[in-house]
Amino acid sequence: MTETPPLAFSHHDPPSAERVMGTTILPLHEASRPGLIGDPFYSAERFAARVRGYMKAPGFEMVAETGDRTFGLCELMVHPDWQRRGIAHALHDELLGQRPERRATVLVREDNTPAQRAYAKWGWRKVGKLQPFSDSPHYDALVLDLAPTEPLVAPRPSAGGLQN
Ligand SMILES: CC(C)(COP(=O)(O)OP(=O)(O)OC[C@H]1O[C@@H](n2cnc3c(N)ncnc32)[C@H](O)[C@@H]1OP(=O)(O)O)[C@@H](O)C(=O)NCCC(=O)NCCS
Repeated sequence: MTETPPLAFSHHDPPSAERVMGTTILPLHEASRPGLIGDPFYSAERFAARVRGYMKAPGFEMVAETGDRTFGLCELMVHPDWQRRGIAHALHDELLGQRPERRATVLVREDNTPAQRAYAKWGWRKVGKLQPFSDSPHYDALVLDLAPTEPLVAPRPSAGGLQN
C-alpha cells in the first residue's frame, strides 16, 4: 500500500447525496466496477434506484432491524486511480467510528477479492450468504461488532408485580 494522502471527509444526508448523484456517485460506481457495469443489475440506472432506496431508510445511513442495533454499510467505493492507499480503510473508520449501533453488516460478492481481503483485514466475519434482489448475485453477509458506546436503551426498572 502506498501512503494514504491527506483526506477531507464530507457526510451527506439524502438531499445532499441526491445533489451529487450524477456528478460523483454514479461516475464513481462506473469507474470502480468496470467489469460489472455491463450486467443489468449493476447498470447506472439500477444502481441509482438502489441508492435512492437506501436514502429512504431512517437517517439514510441506517438499515436496521430495530433502527438502533445494526448499521448497514453499502457501496464502499474508491476510484481506481486512488485505490491501495488506505482510502477505503479511512472512509470505513470515519463512518463506523461515529455510529452508535452495536454492529455493522455488509454484503460482498464472494469473488470480490479486494473487498473480501479488506473486510477480513478490518475484522469483519462471515455470517452467511444471501441474495437481496431476485436478479442480484448471491453475496456473503459479513458482520462487524462496533465498539460499545453509551447504552442504547436504558435498563428497565425491575417490575415488582404483575404487568398487563
Ligand atoms: C474494495 C475497495 C473499496 C478498496 O478500496 P481501497 O482504497 O483500495 O482499499 P485500502 O487501500 O483501504 O485497502 C485495504 C485492504 O484491502 C485489501 N485490498 C484492497 N485492494 C486489493 C486488491 N486489489 N487486491 C487484494 N487486496 C486488496 C488489502 O488487504 C488492503 O490492505 P493493504 O493495502 O495494506 O494490503 C476498492 O477496491 C473498490 O472501490 N472496489 C470496487 C467497489 C467495490 O467492490 N466495493 C465493495 C462493495 S462491498
